[in-house]
Amino acid sequence: MALPRLIPRFPSPFRSSSSLCNITRSSPLTTAMISRPFSLSFSAGDQAASSSSKTDTLIELAKARRTIYKLGKSSPVPDSKIEDLVNAAVLNVPSSFNTQSTRLIVLLHREHERLWDIVIETFEGLVKAGTVPEQTWKNQTLPKLQGMRGAVGTILFYEDPAHIKPFSEKFALYKDHFQPWADHSNAMHQYFLWAGLESLGFGANLQHYNPLIDAPIAKQWDVPNEWRLVAQLVFGSPEGGPGEKAQKPLEDRVKIYGKL
Ligand SMILES: Cc1cc2nc3c(=O)[nH]c(=O)nc-3n(C[C@H](O)[C@H](O)[C@H](O)COP(=O)(O)O)c2cc1C
Repeated sequence: MALPRLIPRFPSPFRSSSSLCNITRSSPLTTAMISRPFSLSFSAGDQAASSSSKTDTLIELAKARRTIYKLGKSSPVPDSKIEDLVNAAVLNVPSSFNTQSTRLIVLLHREHERLWDIVIETFEGLVKAGTVPEQTWKNQTLPKLQGMRGAVGTILFYEDPAHIKPFSEKFALYKDHFQPWADHSNAMHQYFLWAGLESLGFGANLQHYNPLIDAPIAKQWDVPNEWRLVAQLVFGSPEGGPGEKAQKPLEDRVKIYGKL
């Protein structure tokens, strides 16, 4: 295992050993402490200063989360830190009506490689059938998939509809909203983990090879057939930087009324 990088790409305090997620396992915290973890021992002044620095940290972390395609196999942390982070996502990310329908499968090392072998095998079938042109496969898709295989792990994001249906039946007025709300919550898990993996020293990128790969994955890892695969977050040691990112004007994207 590689040591954590000492010089982060961005100066993020989250890269230190005090990770976001230790709270779930090692600290004997009460529910009240967990629900207001930053307000316990501060006076009002301290609290304002503290919350402003926490906001700065949050913004730094949001800036540091980027799409990184060039990923390697050196892990900056033990696998238990990844597990803690994933558990923290599931325990702390909200869902509509607290439905908790998101399911995560974490594939590490050999299991991660098996996943990308399955994706490659699936595409080979498509090339044979003439659905994907040979040239595109050889020059673009295969190198990209081999790049994914060369990373440390993949998190598979699923939705379990069994936990949405009862709510759709009980709240008829909102019945058509539960699936999109479930997808919103699923996306919040994706964002939390994308930023969280960055905070641990990984780089990551988000992929959508579903539904092409749903069936062989379900077979390989015994995933319930009714679970719906939503996204795949690939992560590894960052071996390259993010690409250029154009920003549309802020004033077209944000309106504030009533600002003092
Ligand atoms: C909902 C969503 C879906 C995405 N799907 C893919 C994808 O299928 N493949 C991919 O390579 N990148 C995907 N991306 C990454 C975006 O292209 C990327 O986030 C965007 O260009 C901004 O760059 P940044 O992540 O470096 O900030 C997706 C991002 C989001 C938020």
